[in-house]
Amino acid sequence: MVNITCWLLLALAYIVLLATTPTIATKLIPSDLEGCNITDITHTLQNGIASFDSDEGAGEIINEKYGNHTIVGRLQIGTHLGTHVDAPSHIYKNLLKEGFTADALDLRTLIGPVLVVETPTNDNITAEVLASLKIPEGTKRVIFKTSNTHKQLMNRTAFAEDYTGFTEDGARWFVKNNSSVKFVGIDYMSIATKKDVVPVHRILLKNKDIIPVENLKLDKVEPGPYTVYCLPLNLLAEASPVRCILAACC
Ligand SMILES: *[C@@H]1O[C@H](CO)[C@@H](O)[C@H](O)[C@H]1NC(C)=O
Ligand SMILES: *[C@@H]1O[C@H](CO)[C@@H](O)[C@H](O)[C@H]1NC(C)=O
Ligand SMILES: *[C@@H]1O[C@H](CO)[C@@H](O)[C@H](O)[C@H]1NC(C)=O
Ligand SMILES: *[C@@H]1O[C@H](CO)[C@@H](O)[C@H](O)[C@H]1NC(C)=O
Ligand SMILES: *[C@@H]1O[C@H](CO)[C@@H](O)[C@H](O)[C@H]1NC(C)=O
Repeated sequence: MVNITCWLLLALAYIVLLATTPTIATKLIPSDLEGCNITDITHTLQNGIASFDSDEGAGEIINEKYGNHTIVGRLQIGTHLGTHVDAPSHIYKNLLKEGFTADALDLRTLIGPVLVVETPTNDNITAEVLASLKIPEGTKRVIFKTSNTHKQLMNRTAFAEDYTGFTEDGARWFVKNNSSVKFVGIDYMSIATKKDVVPVHRILLKNKDIIPVENLKLDKVEPGPYTVYCLPLNLLAEASPVRCILAACC
């Protein structure tokens, strides 16, 4: 029933659009989000947001008076604070000068169909867990919803060291078996467990085509297929804050 209503609404929107703007309609239709539910999966960047290895959180957003009539804000934030993407130069320092920075990330990887999968709450993202998830062949984007969301880790200011992430063997299995996946999202500050931060980033970023999208807010997201839109800042740095939304359309 819901689906039929959805289709009717879409058809109606299409006809109205076609009738009113015949020349641009064909360009607008594919990206038109009429009939879609949009979920913002970005944490609000605010003073003292939970931050890697910190008990007090981090980030300063200072709103200063400018003249008598305006407020002009100033940000003092790490490039990895809140929801963000990593560029290859995050772990391969030599790539910083070669332009493998956030501004150069492939936006086609960051926009498109995505699969949100739930991982077992009693394990990290190991080779065994990944094999059990049976991510369908050809999938380009995956977001892992883990125990990090169930434990509401981002609701506490103090960093949680025992968060869930990729283990080293998980990362190795992933690049070997699931080579079509280039967008890898997770629901806490790092794609890797605290213990394996360095090897996992080295493995995933080695070919410079996988983009880790970290610290996604997934409390309102059910597993399943969506369209994701993630746009980082056009920032010359090894990472960037990003705004990510999920669209579920009929
Ligand atoms: C700002 O407000 C003060 C106090 O009302 C006034 O003396 C001053 O001329 C104002 N400055 C400007 C640039 O408007
Ligand atoms: C966690 O934070 C969200 C808002 O960001 C709030 O809706 C929720 O109630 C919080 N949960 C707890 C346990 O504090
Ligand atoms: C995941 O790995 C981290 C770091 O080794 C560990 O502290 C944590 O307990 C593990 N989580 C699970 C669910 O096994
Ligand atoms: C991931 O790997 C498994 C096991 O090799 C395979 O069945 C599945 O199709 C792969 N998925 C992708 C997206 O490559
Ligand atoms: C959008 O969300 C509403 C409320 O959660 C739900 O009833 C509806 O089926 C959703 N529509 C789509 C296209 O996902």
